[in-house]
Order: sequence, then C-alpha cells, then structure tokens
Amino acid sequence: MGLPFRSLTMLLLLLLIWWSTSEAQTLRALDAILQDYAYRAFHRPRTGRPYDGVPPANLSGIQISALRLRSGSLFTRGVRQYKQFSIPVGVIGTPYVERLVLVYQNLGNWSTTYYPLPPGYMYLAPVLGLLAYDASNLSATNLEELDIYASEDPISIEFTQVQPVRDARCVWFDLDGRINFTKVVSGNKCLTYEQGHFSIVVESTAPSPAPVPQPHQGGGGKGWIIGGSVLGGVALLVLLALLILWVWRFNKRKKVHKMEKAADAGEALHMTAVGNTKAPAATTTRTQPSLETEYVP
Ligand SMILES: *[C@@H]1O[C@H](CO)[C@@H](O)[C@H](O)[C@H]1NC(C)=O
Ligand SMILES: *[C@@H]1O[C@H](CO)[C@@H](O)[C@H](O)[C@H]1NC(C)=O
Ligand SMILES: *[C@@H]1O[C@H](CO)[C@@H](O)[C@H](O)[C@H]1NC(C)=O
Ligand SMILES: *[C@@H]1O[C@H](CO)[C@@H](O)[C@H](O)[C@H]1NC(C)=O
Repeated sequence: MGLPFRSLTMLLLLLLIWWSTSEAQTLRALDAILQDYAYRAFHRPRTGRPYDGVPPANLSGIQISALRLRSGSLFTRGVRQYKQFSIPVGVIGTPYVERLVLVYQNLGNWSTTYYPLPPGYMYLAPVLGLLAYDASNLSATNLEELDIYASEDPISIEFTQVQPVRDARCVWFDLDGRINFTKVVSGNKCLTYEQGHFSIVVESTAPSPAPVPQPHQGGGGKGWIIGGSVLGGVALLVLLALLILWVWRFNKRKKVHKMEKAADAGEALHMTAVGNTKAPAATTTRTQPSLETEYVP
C-alpha cells in the first residue's frame, strides 16, 4: 500500500497547486478585463484627470477609473486624491515609461467572490485596487502591470464608510492574490508601499461596538463568508469522494488483476498439460518422416 499512498499524496499536492494557480489566473484575468474597460473611458484624455469607466455587464457592481500621468509628475508631485487613494511624492514605476495609467478598481459586491477571506474574517469595506500600466497605447489590452513602489512616504487608502472598530485590520492582496494583514491607522486608513488590492476586515467572532453600515456589500460580509466556506466545504467533500472512489477502484483493479493473473497461470498450466500430451505426438509423427528421409541412405 506504500505506492498508492505516495501517489495519492502527489495527486493531492498537484490538485492544490492547480487550485492555487487557477485562482491566481482568475484574478489576473479580472485585472486584465478591468484594465481594458478602464482604458475605454479615455477619449482624448487630459493628463492628470481621472475618467470613470463602465465595466462589462457581467461585472456590474464594480467601479473602475483610469488616470493618466507623466512618470516624472507622479514622482515629483504625487496625486493628492485619486478616489480613496492618496499618493505621496516619490512613487516610482518600473520599468520606466514616460506616461503611465493608474487603474482604480472598487470591487463592490464582488469583493468576496474574487478575494475570499480566510475563515473567521469579514469585510468592513469593499476591496479597492490600484494598478499601474504603460500609457503609450491606450487601445492595448492584456497589458502587464508596471511595478510601482513608494520610495518615501507610503500610499494611503481611506475607507470613508468604515467607522473605527477595535481589532479591525487592513488586508492587502498582492497581484497573485497572496494575503497580508497590516494595522489600521487613524481609524479607517491603510498604508502601502506597493500596488495591489486593499480593504479593512475584522474577525467576525470579535464583538463590534456598533453595527457597521456596508453600503457597497450587497449581501453583507458574513453571508458571503458563510457562502464561501460552504462552497469550500462542498468542494472538499467532492474531492474526498473522488479520492475514495479512486482508492476503491485502485483496490478493485488490483484484485481483478490478481484474479486474472491466477487465471492466466492456471490456463497456462492447462495448456502446457494439453500440449505435453499432444505436441510430442505431433512432432514425432511430423518430424520422423523427414528424419527418415534424411538419415536413411
Ligand atoms: C464578462 O464579459 C467579458 C467581456 O464580454 C468577458 O471577457 C468575460 O470573460 C466575461 N466573464 C467574466 C466572468 O468576467
Ligand atoms: C452586484 O450587484 C449588481 C447590481 O448592482 C448585480 O448585477 C450583480 O450580480 C451583483 N454581483 C454579485 C456577485 O452578487
Ligand atoms: C495598440 O494596441 C492595439 C491592441 O493590442 C494594437 O492593435 C495596435 O496596433 C497598438 N498600436 C500601437 C501604435 O502599438
Ligand atoms: C507582509 O507585510 C509586511 C510589511 O510590509 C512584510 O514585512 C511581510 O514580509 C509581508 N508578508 C508577506 C507574507 O508578504
């Protein structure tokens, strides 16, 4: 049973890797669609002015915006206010491009669909994204993000609808959806030195001092989380059932194989037993004449 268990572990590992990469790919695909639709908001755009875009109908509820800037101006002046983001001086994009576009995303009621939280956490605000792209071709699609980082003060994100809650934490997802928690500052602000997706969360078991309004969260964070964990549980059950089926079939196949082998062995013996009685007779009768003709002078 050593080999099947080893291959079972391998299978599980592969499934896990496949699952995590496919999740990252889903997020990359969403960012690509939103980049495309945000760029469509540009018609003879003025530099330094944000333009609100319209996402595709199947993603309604998401807000997008695009702001085109000279890299030099971003570095020397920053952007005092771009939706909920305040960008200080000293932000650098790599590789260097002359002009870049900052795409803003507010995932609204899609936050938990695309960025599910670990069990026990709930969103107090929608997930907000800030991603940088090259502005040299405004009809380009599937653009790679530029790397931007704040070389002096951090970029700050203010979640205006969030009332100060004890135990609230900022959550930050990098471009592959990897999660990191940081502390909330000034009651409802998060700080970052990089681009990505951000929100404020609280452990749902922690008592919250006041009911928190969630105007952007269609069903309320808790429902989403429960929905998410139920879905996860169902997926796990299906996986388990598949594994059990697989093990069962493996064992059955092994049993059948054993039986076949035994049958083969029996049949082979039988055949040779028959052959032993028949073959000599046949060879002697068949070869004897030739032997006779050869050896008889
Ligand atoms: C939504 O629509 C866009 C554009 O029509 C499409 O590319 C995308 O695959 C659709 N589905 C999702 C889940 O975004
Ligand atoms: C979010 O709300 C919009 C309407 O504002 C709706 O069309 C969409 O289906 C909702 N998304 C989810 C994931 O419930
Ligand atoms: C801009 O991108 C579009 C879409 O990828 C492409 O068709 C077009 O040729 C590009 N224009 C330039 C000037 O590179
Ligand atoms: C999370 O962020 C902190 C502060 O930026 C950093 O030190 C830490 O390495 C990050 N952890 C992960 C897993 O990215």
